[in-house]
Amino acid sequence: MKKLLITGGAGFIGSHVVRLFVNKYKDYQVYNLDKLTYAGNLENLRDVENADNYHFLKIDIVDEEAVFKLFSEHRFDGIIHLAAESHVDRSIANPMEFIYTNIVGTVNLLNAARQSWKDDMDQHLFYHVSTDEVYGSLDDGGYFTEETPYDPQSPYSASKAGSDHFVRAYHNTYGLPVVISNCSNNYGPNQFPEKLLPLFINNIRNNKPLPVYGKGDNVRDWLFVVDHARAIDDIYHKGKVGETYNIGGFNEWKNLDLIKLLCKVMDNKLGREAGSSEKLITYVKDRAGHDLRYAIDANKIMHELGWQPSLQFEEGLEKTVDWYLSNQTWLDNVTSGAYQQYYEVQYGE
Ligand code: NAD
Ligand code: TYD
Repeated sequence: MKKLLITGGAGFIGSHVVRLFVNKYKDYQVYNLDKLTYAGNLENLRDVENADNYHFLKIDIVDEEAVFKLFSEHRFDGIIHLAAESHVDRSIANPMEFIYTNIVGTVNLLNAARQSWKDDMDQHLFYHVSTDEVYGSLDDGGYFTEETPYDPQSPYSASKAGSDHFVRAYHNTYGLPVVISNCSNNYGPNQFPEKLLPLFINNIRNNKPLPVYGKGDNVRDWLFVVDHARAIDDIYHKGKVGETYNIGGFNEWKNLDLIKLLCKVMDNKLGREAGSSEKLITYVKDRAGHDLRYAIDANKIMHELGWQPSLQFEEGLEKTVDWYLSNQTWLDNVTSGAYQQYYEVQYGE
């Protein structure tokens, strides 16, 4: 039996990764480590929580002692590290949390892995999950490749860039076997409604304004979350140690076009008159330092590992809307309490 540690498994992407590994690899014992911040929700994993090969550990990766204790109790074969503070707007309001979790937390895990694996280092793998935002912002031309120099612009992306640098440094300095992937914007079920798509789905459902930052002309490259989880599976099992893989579906959308498409889908699903959701669009002050465009060149993972996205965007968007509309209790639960306060501060309501 192999022991795999997945960090941040109660979050959006992590829960899809945990589900995939628990269901697909019965010979793995999957340990989900999560602090359960506002973004972590064990409801995301109800369908696998009783599986024999699933275990949950409530730990803060910033707590060095707790991380070392865990690694003294378990010899993990590998780690897939997703735990992070992940929302750009929150990083603008409160950068320190991002430095603690994303940088200090990652280095705690690197130190514990290095110590635990010192006698047979090459039998293990530390897989660090990162973002395309570390590359900065593109103007209209070109793509981010694995060779694009880092140029992070927000406190979030700076903290992820810092963690990526530490992971590479531990490979170069101590020979820790690592692999890194940098993925584009994910969408799909279980995403916390502070990110664009679930926020707007929830607001349309409640007839609330849709706060479009600036003119809505920023461009993002969208990938269905299950396709990201499949890519992580491929990289964990077939990726080359020391390498970086960019993940994306060559699926760029200008925010305003994406929002209008979402409005159309929502009108349709909710049986509302065509055009009624679009009337909720409200232009608000732009995000500080708002990156103009992200676009991933995913040729390396496609050609070297044979990964391909499985869904067309329109199909993925419909699936996503269907999920939120049939899981309204999930939405209501996560948007109660502290969420209201966040919303008020962020959008001034
Ligand atoms: P998320 O915010 O939904 O989930 C993060 C999880 O980490 C939560 O369960 C939270 O409880 C946990 N966590 C936070 N701080 C912790 C700590 N100190 N100790 C232990 N657990 C902690 O994030 P997500 O969108 O699922 O992103 C997961 C990873 O993927 C992140 O590393 C993010 O940078 C990366 N990523 C995200 C996207 C995206 O579009 N969402 C795209 C590319 C890469
Ligand atoms: P977001 O989902 O926060 O992801 P990221 O900033 O990591 O790309 O935002 C996606 C895009 O949508 C980004 O250009 C900012 C924009 N946006 C809005 O216009 N209004 C909003 O309320 C939010 C949350 C995002």
